[in-house]
Amino acid sequence: MSDSLGIRRYDYVEFYVGSAKMVAYWYAKALGMTITGYSGPETGCRDRMSYYLTQNDLKIVVSSALQPDTYYITSFITQHGDGVKRWSIEVDDVKTIFEHATERGAIAVQRPTISENEHGRVQEAAIRLFDDTELVFINRDEYKHIFKPGFDKPVQDIEIVTEDPGLLGIDHIVGNVRENEMDVWTAYFNKTLDFETFVDFKKGDIGTQYSALLSKVVRSEHSTIKNPINEPYEGAKKSQIEEYLEQYHGSGIQHIAIQTSNIVHTISALRKNGVEFLMVPDTYYETLRNRNDINIKENIDDLQALKILCDKDEHGYLLQLFTKPTGDRPTFFFEFIQREGCQGFGKGNFQALFEAIELDQELRGNLDHEA
Ligand code: FE2
Repeated sequence: MSDSLGIRRYDYVEFYVGSAKMVAYWYAKALGMTITGYSGPETGCRDRMSYYLTQNDLKIVVSSALQPDTYYITSFITQHGDGVKRWSIEVDDVKTIFEHATERGAIAVQRPTISENEHGRVQEAAIRLFDDTELVFINRDEYKHIFKPGFDKPVQDIEIVTEDPGLLGIDHIVGNVRENEMDVWTAYFNKTLDFETFVDFKKGDIGTQYSALLSKVVRSEHSTIKNPINEPYEGAKKSQIEEYLEQYHGSGIQHIAIQTSNIVHTISALRKNGVEFLMVPDTYYETLRNRNDINIKENIDDLQALKILCDKDEHGYLLQLFTKPTGDRPTFFFEFIQREGCQGFGKGNFQALFEAIELDQELRGNLDHEA
């Protein structure tokens, strides 16, 4: 199951947010996740509050500061707004992979640490990623309680009525970096964690008449971890990557793609729950109906009604859709994806997607370069 470095799969993603309680409600109501764990004053943690949310293999933690001197959270929020502070990989042995990575140049943030209580122990270590993000290695094999020490059952006993969208787990996590940084960070993954670059979108591959970007995708040995990294490329107007870098005030995580095995059901449920998605023009489906190179088992009328996008490669097809930014700043968003053999990331949809994003960028006054 694990690869030669002991990498198993994605584990949790932790967001730093303005109000963990409010954001946890959004994940429970909008994404249909269960509030499984809680850490705060009632569990002995006085400087911050965290909620641990789960749905199948999807694990999300949202944390906020309770005190003005909780600088590790307050400074992040002041700079970036709500965003991903860390994402993690479940590994066989934390110390082994941490030493492998740091010996090859990975920047150490947290040396291997064991936290324990009467329920067992959890091992974690972290290396730096991008400006202010961390990649955590975690092993919870010897822990028999909720998430990790410090977490317990949620204090609130409420039932949140929601549609279950059937989210399965993380498919890929995407970073946005500055011009000339994409090669730095792809080399970082490849050198320190033995990843390989398997997709390389060059100049002219991705763009609209206004804006462009470059993108490379790195993956772990068994492809369980897949990380596209984007950087802006010069265009007539400001690209969505430039908008992100300005509004996030640095490089960081742009989106997380979540797997589903039935995207028609997933998007239908998420729309009922009030999740806001990017607009897709009806002309997109006229083009899709006229394509005879994709054999889709889903009904195209259903895809059109829910505005789901479709793309293919030589192995099969994929269906995907992107939310609008989930926080106040136009930075982080989610993608939902159903893979039917296709190993790509929806390159054929980038034009329709970027044009939809540019419409929103224009509304925000963020499309034109400053004079
Ligand atoms: Fe994606």
